[in-house]
Amino acid sequence: MAFERVITLNDEQPTEARHPALAKPRSVVFANSKGGVGKSTLALMASLGLATLYPDSRVELIDLDVQKTSSDSLRRFENARFNVLENDDFFLNSGSPNNGNLINHMGSDFPFNRTQKYIVFDSPAGNEPSRSTFLSHCDIVFVPTSVGDADVFATLKYLDEISELFARQKSNVEGPPPPIVLLPNMVDSREEFNELRNHFTRHSVYFGKPLYYAPVFRRAFRSDENDASVAKLLQQAKPYIDWLAGLIRRADQLPQPPKNLFQL
Ligand SMILES: Nc1ncnc2c1ncn2[C@@H]1O[C@H](COP(=O)(O)OP(=O)(O)OP(=O)(O)O)[C@@H](O)[C@H]1O
Ligand SMILES: [Mg+2]
Repeated sequence: MAFERVITLNDEQPTEARHPALAKPRSVVFANSKGGVGKSTLALMASLGLATLYPDSRVELIDLDVQKTSSDSLRRFENARFNVLENDDFFLNSGSPNNGNLINHMGSDFPFNRTQKYIVFDSPAGNEPSRSTFLSHCDIVFVPTSVGDADVFATLKYLDEISELFARQKSNVEGPPPPIVLLPNMVDSREEFNELRNHFTRHSVYFGKPLYYAPVFRRAFRSDENDASVAKLLQQAKPYIDWLAGLIRRADQLPQPPKNLFQL
């Protein structure tokens, strides 16, 4: 099915929600200080996936990267339910996130009742958790990583920095810190997936399903005729996207925080 049809057919405001309303907008972030691990690709898949799978949802994509990879490529899909939000108020003059404004935005009211709203953040490489306190206000933090040693070491360091941030923020945030889900990306084989998992076994985080290396992902940001590349990606990666969107929907129902790595 062509992507365009899916998104344009369902862009009216729903009269009745098909899924139970969320208590507040659900905020998810794709973050890692390491570049090129798939943050933008996965943010694109998650936001389009949520918008197509849940016809009664509203989805906002907020790109915190000055390179604007995801906002530039997703703007063409905007409609009544799918927004690429660009707002200078989300940034400080330094280019770092304006945490106060982002947190306010995340807590803002629904535009209409009885529906679900998802906010998907794409964040840039070099992201320092200590300057991104909004992370502890999100409902789920996805940390994509790929298998190379440099990616693994950077990701291990990043996990430690997020844990420090959450520990420091404990008294400022209601409830437990958001779950952290590692997303193994650009995986070549089951062996490689297992090898990657072994690096993280002692970390108190969730470990996602593998996203295998495939050329279709290289063309995720291309705006070709009839959005053929994006349509193909959504089709080929459907089982993965369904899993990711389902996980976002059920973020509040994840089991107790794991003591060690927890395979989802
Ligand atoms: N599973 C995959 N298979 C093949 N290529 C992939 C896969 N995931 C991502 N890529 C490609 O890897 C490159 C980096 O991906 P992406 O831009 O999503 O990473 P990023 O973490 O957002 O990078 P940056 O830190 O520069 O923002 C892109 O060319 C993308 O198309
Ligand atoms: Mg990116």
